[in-house]
Amino acid sequence: MDLLLLLENSLLALFVAIIAAITVSKLRGKHFRLPPGPLPVPIFGNWLQVGDDLNHRNLTQLAKKFGNILLLRMGQRHLVVVSSPELAKEVLHTQGVEFGSRTRNVVFDIFTGKGQDMVFTVYGEHWRKMRRIMTVPFFTNKVVQQYRYGWEEEAGRVVEDVKKMAEAASTGIVLRKRLQLMMYNNMFRIMFDTRFESEDDPVFVKLKALNGERSRLAQSFEYNYGDFIPILRPFLRGYLKICKEVKERRMQLFKDYFVQERKKVGSSKSMSNQGLKCAIDHILDAQQKGEINEDNVLYIVENINVAAIETTLWSIEWGIAELVNHPEIQKKLRDELDKVLGLGVQVTEPDTHRLPYLQAVIKETLRLRMAIPLLVPHMNLNDANLGGYDIPAESKILVNAWWLANNPESWKHPQEFRPERFLEEESKVEANGNDFRYLPFGVGRRSCPGIILALPILGITIGRLVQNFELLPPPGQSKIDTTEKGGQFSLHILKHSTIVAKPRAF
Ligand code: HEM
Repeated sequence: MDLLLLLENSLLALFVAIIAAITVSKLRGKHFRLPPGPLPVPIFGNWLQVGDDLNHRNLTQLAKKFGNILLLRMGQRHLVVVSSPELAKEVLHTQGVEFGSRTRNVVFDIFTGKGQDMVFTVYGEHWRKMRRIMTVPFFTNKVVQQYRYGWEEEAGRVVEDVKKMAEAASTGIVLRKRLQLMMYNNMFRIMFDTRFESEDDPVFVKLKALNGERSRLAQSFEYNYGDFIPILRPFLRGYLKICKEVKERRMQLFKDYFVQERKKVGSSKSMSNQGLKCAIDHILDAQQKGEINEDNVLYIVENINVAAIETTLWSIEWGIAELVNHPEIQKKLRDELDKVLGLGVQVTEPDTHRLPYLQAVIKETLRLRMAIPLLVPHMNLNDANLGGYDIPAESKILVNAWWLANNPESWKHPQEFRPERFLEEESKVEANGNDFRYLPFGVGRRSCPGIILALPILGITIGRLVQNFELLPPPGQSKIDTTEKGGQFSLHILKHSTIVAKPRAF
């Protein structure tokens, strides 16, 4: 009996070894010198060994084992993980064109109409055109100077509303909920010259729910199996159906409530904001000129809803959480604001440039709690070479930017939240990618163009909150929970904490 079992196991092992050898030799047959990584098994590749949760921390553990460039075979997909500043420079800068495309998966294909947007399109003519069309309405200093009054007003309204909530100063409130409304207003003022009056606005409620659902569905690891192994795709039918429904409802909402509305305003020539064009007017001009179609217009709105609002909101939420858990840092920041601006003088965008400690707090938040820790996945359209290894065409390239900024070999006590590092030993490091150890917005061709808006919004919001309130954990708690929730390439706080906001008396 034992002998029979042994024979059976041996035959099985032999079978697996043969199939593995065939798979590897198929690639090696092309004379590929592939990066190191765990030994793949047929069909599944490394999927059963490494699991679904390919977050920045798990990928860091793999890098410690296999090195700064490693290859994972997830079913039929190749995934290359890059974990050193030198290799990041190679991917994002030196070979920026070769690695400047994006991979999508079965779910991102649905939400972006197979790359009709800007964020997830391959590197080429369409991307260049979309980036050009989006630059004037969104990504210039003129936009910042036009809209910063709006952002200051929105942050001011948050302060006033929180002061009116009695429980804010006693048991505490989920501050994030009010900040979410603020972030939507900050971006919807730019996009459509419109804002939502309250958290109960029915369109806002609908929009927030659909955007939340879109993010959950896209960032989840739940659908990996059907993406990695095409023969399993029929089992994903239900999931993909929900994705399609959410996508349709969202696009319809963007169209009916915002784009069409703005078209009516445009045709009646009664534009508010002193007749200045808002972003969608520029985008619709491009459509009228035949440069893009109506779907592209809606995908631009879709991209901003995700890329701009959520990332900035997560970063604000992380910043506040760290300040609540580090009262000494919060006090030092408040002292700077009081000293530089004067007691009760509300911080504005130009002020943020003369508040070095505020800048350092923001940088440190983006370092330790990077909202997009693996950047948005890059891809090489053709076979390429990286770090002396061959990279098969259409590999998904993940740059572990979080690890670059949290590796103890290149940062002093990186696990500590210590803004002072950006005034002391790292004083030359900026968020714009001037140092390949610190890339919260990426760098190079596919880097985040929204950095120009995100940094002032972060400065105004965090500055105003700390100026006007003492931010504390709820009664009976010494700290708030900062457990992380990682997604396909996102990182946010798991629990939206209750925070006590005690108004300061001026
Ligand atoms: C704290 C806030 C933000 C963070 C941390 C962040 C981070 C990032 C990162 C890491 C990337 C990918 C870079 C790469 O793949 O190499 C990215 C791409 C992008 N971001 Fe942001 N972002 C933020 C805010 C914004 C805002 C406010 C906007 C728009 C108003 C925006 C628009 C975009 C777009 C359009 C892309 C895609 C660029 C391309 O593929 O060419 N982001 N962002």
